[in-house]
Amino acid sequence: MASRSFLFIYVLVMFCLAGMAFSELSDDFYHHICPKALPTIKRVVVDAVRKERRTGASLLRLHFHDCFVNGCDASILLDQTSTINSEKTSRANNNSARGFEVIDKIKSEVDKVCGRPVVSCADILAVAARDSVVALHGPSWKVKLGRRDSTTASRTAANNNIPTPFMDLPALIKNFKKQGLDEKDLVALSGGHTLGFAQCFTFRNRIYNETNIDPTFRRQRQANCPRSGGDSNLAPLDPTPALFDSKYFSDLRSKKGLLHTDQALFSGGKTDDLVEKYSKNLGMFSKDFAKSMIKMGNIKPLTGKRGQIRVNCRKVN
Ligand code: HEM
Ligand SMILES: *[C@@H]1O[C@H](CO)[C@@H](O)[C@H](O)[C@H]1NC(C)=O
Ligand SMILES: *[C@@H]1O[C@H](CO)[C@@H](O)[C@H](O)[C@H]1NC(C)=O
Repeated sequence: MASRSFLFIYVLVMFCLAGMAFSELSDDFYHHICPKALPTIKRVVVDAVRKERRTGASLLRLHFHDCFVNGCDASILLDQTSTINSEKTSRANNNSARGFEVIDKIKSEVDKVCGRPVVSCADILAVAARDSVVALHGPSWKVKLGRRDSTTASRTAANNNIPTPFMDLPALIKNFKKQGLDEKDLVALSGGHTLGFAQCFTFRNRIYNETNIDPTFRRQRQANCPRSGGDSNLAPLDPTPALFDSKYFSDLRSKKGLLHTDQALFSGGKTDDLVEKYSKNLGMFSKDFAKSMIKMGNIKPLTGKRGQIRVNCRKVN
């Protein structure tokens, strides 16, 4: 009898330890501490996207650029100080990452309704990315919560880990693999480019030097992106930059990918098949996108007593 209850307690303890080790983020993290947290994030996102639809794209990209640099820990939000090497001026983010004011607004509104700072900036980024996609008619998904905020940032890690738009397919696959993401995640998440815009300097080489490009598309893009100058002129990443749809993928099939890295997903390599499937099946793209967003959002979170809940997302407490 005694040995049986020992066994029971042993199994129970192991079960709890396993739970602590493997599922530290949870579905209902703010359910009791601040039930109004998630509706408040959504309200501010919907408001901001109504004012400027591109904001939805920018918020989605912020979460991606946060997660690829030492995990989803809001390191991207820290401003430069004598001890913080801000990621905001890294190659991929400088004069490019946007939406920081919306995150500030969300943080202050959420702290107001919660009565104290209990919601992390990292969770705000993850939820705002989801709410942005929903606001632009994309799929929804359950964001696991309980991420905490970093006390450090790394411009060097941002420069090394965020993919550049000049990579070829093997380099992209390798880059995502380092984050625990596979080829399917790469293709599905690249579908994030169904939203938003890119600056001329990121696609100039593609529209002047590359051959796997539709001639009419090339001419149209060259009209607003000269050989020299106009570096920050914008072009949409797909024909419907404020709508989550499968046009990004159908465009790749007709050689109208804007970035070199977009077209690399459909240029005779092993991701061609998936691009073709997504181009014909918005439901499948949406489902896989949601799945991969959850996977990306769970990269190396700080949980438990690690990190902190920042009072101001731009500064360490
Ligand atoms: C696969 C590797 C990727 C590369 C090389 C890449 C590169 C880029 C570049 C160069 C831009 C334009 C930035 C500018 O001109 O200022 C951009 C924009 C964007 N990216 Fe990516 N990206 C990648 C993956 C992703 C992923 C995984 C997501 C999200 C799931 C994403 C979401 C976006 C969005 C929404 C925009 C538009 C932002 C806006 O309009 O403010 N990208 N990306
Ligand atoms: C970021 O861009 C600004 C121009 O807006 C430039 O002065 C600065 O040198 C850039 N920072 C880095 C680290 O490249
Ligand atoms: C095209 O490629 C050549 C040779 O690699 C390079 O020197 C030139 O700068 C490129 N042109 C553009 C517009 O990127």
